[in-house]
Amino acid sequence: MENFLFWGERDRASVMREIFAADAPDIAFYDAQDQPDPSSIRYLATWEPPDGFDATYPNLELLFSTGAGVDQFDLSALPQSVKLVRLIDAHLTDGMVDYVTAAVMSLHRDFFQYQRTQREALWQQLTVLPAGQRRVSILGAGELSLAVINALRPFGFPLAAWSRSERNIEGAAHYSGLQALEAMLGQTDILICLLPLTSETQGILDAALFRMLPTGAALVNVGRGGHLVDADLIEALDSGQLSQAILDVASSEPLQSGHPFWAHPRILLTPHIASVTDPVGAAKAIIANIRRHRASEPLKGLVAREKCY
Ligand code: NDP
Ligand code: OXD
Repeated sequence: MENFLFWGERDRASVMREIFAADAPDIAFYDAQDQPDPSSIRYLATWEPPDGFDATYPNLELLFSTGAGVDQFDLSALPQSVKLVRLIDAHLTDGMVDYVTAAVMSLHRDFFQYQRTQREALWQQLTVLPAGQRRVSILGAGELSLAVINALRPFGFPLAAWSRSERNIEGAAHYSGLQALEAMLGQTDILICLLPLTSETQGILDAALFRMLPTGAALVNVGRGGHLVDADLIEALDSGQLSQAILDVASSEPLQSGHPFWAHPRILLTPHIASVTDPVGAAKAIIANIRRHRASEPLKGLVAREKCY
């Protein structure tokens, strides 16, 4: 019997425990309240690592993030023997697709502007721009970005994505490297950030980037709050360089009271709900990876230490 520990909320633990009992009776499931012998734990899943966990669990082999992102883990402090695995799961992907599609459609059909004119009791029709003239670009071309592109493609938006490495994406232009970023941004009406937070992407959504966008472009940040320079966004919105921002993530969560984002008329804020981990999907994805690990097969979502994502 191998031991698995879930370090997280009790309600999620009880759902995951049932999945393990049904699908993986050969793996003993513990949550933090069970207080298993730490040296017996081979696999650990958590959103945030418990303090000093590397010393506490000396026989750990796999550390699972219960989310897609892994910026909450300090990779340099992780023993070389431990593999960090992020969550790739259809529920998580579908949630992000729904959220970003809703954000893009609201921006495309000027819902925010109509909300403003309604408040002024103005019956004012705006010209409807065909989807073929609304350029939508994504920072990131990974698991979630590609699913978003697939969902947006049928609407007819000119689509583009930017990432570190070269790739061909069906129905979307692709740009890689910093030089190419400016070219993509210059042809972008709605920009979506779906990057992981790393030392390279920290603060990427700043005044310099906003200036590369056409005047009046809109921003959707579903990556991490650390991607955004908050003061630069306020300035870009107030000057009209940007017309609207939809933010699902904040530099500190929950966003502190009194932060200017709360009351800004051109910001829609949601509390990090673009995509929420489903404990059933997470348990099944974790079990599948434990099986791959035992069979010495490649893990799905293995984090590359040198890239930090
Ligand atoms: P992936 O690892 O699959 O994709 C990341 C993409 O970003 C890749 O295309 C990668 O490029 C690109 N990238 C990384 N660093 C750079 C860089 N320096 N320059 C250019 N491109 C870069 O991640 P996912 O799509 O699964 O998730 C992305 C992020 O979404 C998560 O890390 C998390 O922060 C966020 N997220 C937010 C949620 C929410 O509810 N708001 C929910 C889930 C995730 P390459 O392809 O070349 O490697
Ligand atoms: C994630 C998240 O990374 O929810 O999965 O942000």
